[in-house]
Amino acid sequence: MDFNLSEEHLLIGEAAQNFAENYLLPGVIDRDEVQKFDKELLRQMGELGFMGMMVAPDYGGGGMDTLSYVIAMEEISKIDASAGVIMSVNNSLVCWGLENFGTSEQKEKYLTKLASGQVIGAFCLSEPEAGSDATSQHTTAIDKGDHYLLNGTKNWITNGDTAEICLVMAQTHPEKQHKGINVFIVEKGLAGFVVGKKENKMGIRASDTNTLMFTDVRVPKENRIGDDGFGFKFAMSTLNGGRIGIAAQALGIAAGAFELSLKYSKERRTFGKPISEHQAIQFKLSEMATKVEAARLLVYKAARLKDEGKDYIQASAMAKLYASETAMWVTTEAVQVHGGYGYVKEYHVERLMRDAKITQIYEGTSEIQKLVIARELLK
Ligand code: CAA
Repeated sequence: MDFNLSEEHLLIGEAAQNFAENYLLPGVIDRDEVQKFDKELLRQMGELGFMGMMVAPDYGGGGMDTLSYVIAMEEISKIDASAGVIMSVNNSLVCWGLENFGTSEQKEKYLTKLASGQVIGAFCLSEPEAGSDATSQHTTAIDKGDHYLLNGTKNWITNGDTAEICLVMAQTHPEKQHKGINVFIVEKGLAGFVVGKKENKMGIRASDTNTLMFTDVRVPKENRIGDDGFGFKFAMSTLNGGRIGIAAQALGIAAGAFELSLKYSKERRTFGKPISEHQAIQFKLSEMATKVEAARLLVYKAARLKDEGKDYIQASAMAKLYASETAMWVTTEAVQVHGGYGYVKEYHVERLMRDAKITQIYEGTSEIQKLVIARELLK
């Protein structure tokens, strides 16, 4: 597969790298410490077009391809993986889902604001008892004629506090199992919609992750996306693309940790020479670089298949599986290369190691990716 990066792809990568190095890097350690993302940075990301990269310009987006999106995701996540996940959920779950399955009225009303970064969105599938087993939705949406009555709890919701627009999956016809699930656009501020506990996380600490609670929330009928019972298909189709975004985030984390290790290995001296001249370190660097490159090829391949309108279910699961396992492995090695310095915050690699872990869990654990790949291989 020839990726044939265009001048535009290269410029997007450069713009994302400049933004990350000049604006995200300075406060990244503090934001991790205080567990808060900067509203001004979010505004700048919107202004630079990073929040709705693939959305058509008619709806306020950048009209770019998936390859451009993953190139930008890698650069942003190299420096700040929290910014990466905020961006990924907004782009590939919320905006993509709305653009591909929403009505023109829904797009006009919500997508335009989301794609330009005026507001951000959240994707609300997981529940206390429905993580990997996503068909087991306990949140209910009862049809009341002109509206649905929404009741239930959603867990581990990225952007849960900051998001103003939430895409919420809920069960309307339990007897139909996953075919009875619907998806709704639910605005913050509706009576009965409460933002609950903020999680105190291991990694991606600057992004907010909350429990969301719904008690008799009246959701207008026109806010349902797709036909009655389309919700689970919506979630699965959207996650196929979301997994490319998270794979790109994982790639960025791995590439960031590798680059820091390469640089450090030339500066740090032991036994009379830079540690880069010790074979023990050279072998680590070689393996890190090889895995990062392999992850990048899988991420680009999934993005290209999506851009070409081909089936990308297996490719996105492979990219997510491999890139997230690589991120965990490379960041652990990066801490080892840095020795004692790697264990303290100033050198960034300990944060990248903590950030890497979640990429093996959200948008489908590594085990779920293997299940998806096996089903594709065997069907
Ligand atoms: N793409 C399209 N359709 C899919 C699909 C996919 N990848 N996977 C399943 N489906 C469809 C099936 O074809 C089936 O449709 P039909 O009934 O029409 O045939 C339907 O979905 C149900 O599928 P299964 O019978 O295979 O259901 P299952 O329960 O055996 O397995 C699962 C489903 C694949 C395990 C699914 O539950 C899953 O992907 N779980 C992981 C959930 C997940 O990724 N959660 C992430 C939360 S969001 C998040 O993390 C965002 C964030 O904030 C960062």
